[in-house]
Amino acid sequence: MKLLVTGGAGYVGSVCAARLVESGHEVVVLDDLSTGHADAVPDGVRLVEAGIDDAIGGVLAEGFDGVLHFAAKSLVGESMQDPAKYWQGNVVTSLRLLDAMREHGTPRLVFSSTAATYGEPEQVPIAETAPTRPTNTYGATKLAIDHAITSYAAAHGLAAVSLRYFNVAGAYGRFGERHGVETHLIPIVLQVASGRRDRVQVYGDDWPTDDGTCIRDYIHVVDLADAHLRALEHATAGEHRIYNLGNGLGFSVKQVIDACREVTGHPIPADVAPRRAGDPAVLVASSEKARAELGWKPERVDLAGIVRDAWDFTRSQQGA
Ligand SMILES: NC(=O)c1ccc[n+]([C@@H]2O[C@H](COP(=O)([O-])OP(=O)(O)OC[C@H]3O[C@@H](n4cnc5c(N)ncnc54)[C@H](O)[C@@H]3O)[C@@H](O)[C@H]2O)c1
Repeated sequence: MKLLVTGGAGYVGSVCAARLVESGHEVVVLDDLSTGHADAVPDGVRLVEAGIDDAIGGVLAEGFDGVLHFAAKSLVGESMQDPAKYWQGNVVTSLRLLDAMREHGTPRLVFSSTAATYGEPEQVPIAETAPTRPTNTYGATKLAIDHAITSYAAAHGLAAVSLRYFNVAGAYGRFGERHGVETHLIPIVLQVASGRRDRVQVYGDDWPTDDGTCIRDYIHVVDLADAHLRALEHATAGEHRIYNLGNGLGFSVKQVIDACREVTGHPIPADVAPRRAGDPAVLVASSEKARAELGWKPERVDLAGIVRDAWDFTRSQQGA
């Protein structure tokens, strides 16, 4: 297929673009490099360096079989302080994309949604049937886009799949996580090991979990990319399917720090800080629907392996 990857110079988009190329697809990346990096675009892939708002119609006019839409603003804290950036940057931009796809007859869409659409869960593991009550603006914008996609699929025959990722982690060779503002636990902990940060903060050690620290679901970015390939194959005209993607295993903050200590050999000093408002104790995905309908199964579920891939990437960046 000829595929447009928005946000393909970012973390998840670059890994997916690389896997798509390896699977024989023709890929074009559209990215404004606001948080991405031109050198993260896989070899042989054309980069259109532009924002969706300005460029999407002209690019889709070339004719594409589908779009994988990763481009977004995704900092939870910033979304609370500057909501306009998120409603404009995520929702308005995605509506422009949907309209351009309709105008140019682009048949398929795979969208990067998020566990943040659910908010505080009543039950874990979290299934797609759980209530969607986002507790931050970022999650609210992603949920709004999901609703828009549902109605475009029903009205205009779009074949659409939203993938609700939990915590994405790990790396794929030279493609990995390089955010200017890093908010994700594993890269933050690895910044201590690589000397870019003195210590880590653990937000609360009195949660109702075995070791008292919060539990999250870490999905390896390569498993996530493989789910995108399957979603493309299973997308059906007129349907909007939604799948949660996690590895189904929760790891506590303490377990993550211990795994980073083991992999890097660094003591990684950690301090306990007060709990943060709005942090649920446990967030773990049920990916049963993706397993049953897409035939997908996470293969890289071992925490040490996930950390090792991220650490190899971190060290390759330091040597670069
Ligand atoms: N990383 C995670 O743990 C995680 C979890 C859940 C959902 N997601 C979603 O997955 C997607 C990718 O996340 P990521 O971690 O790779 O983020 P990222 O910031 O590394 O990548 C986003 C890319 O989109 C580009 N971009 C942003 N706005 C754009 C615009 N208007 N036009 C063109 N390009 C634009 C950026 O330059 C960047 O290259 C996002 O939609 C995010 O909300 C990520």
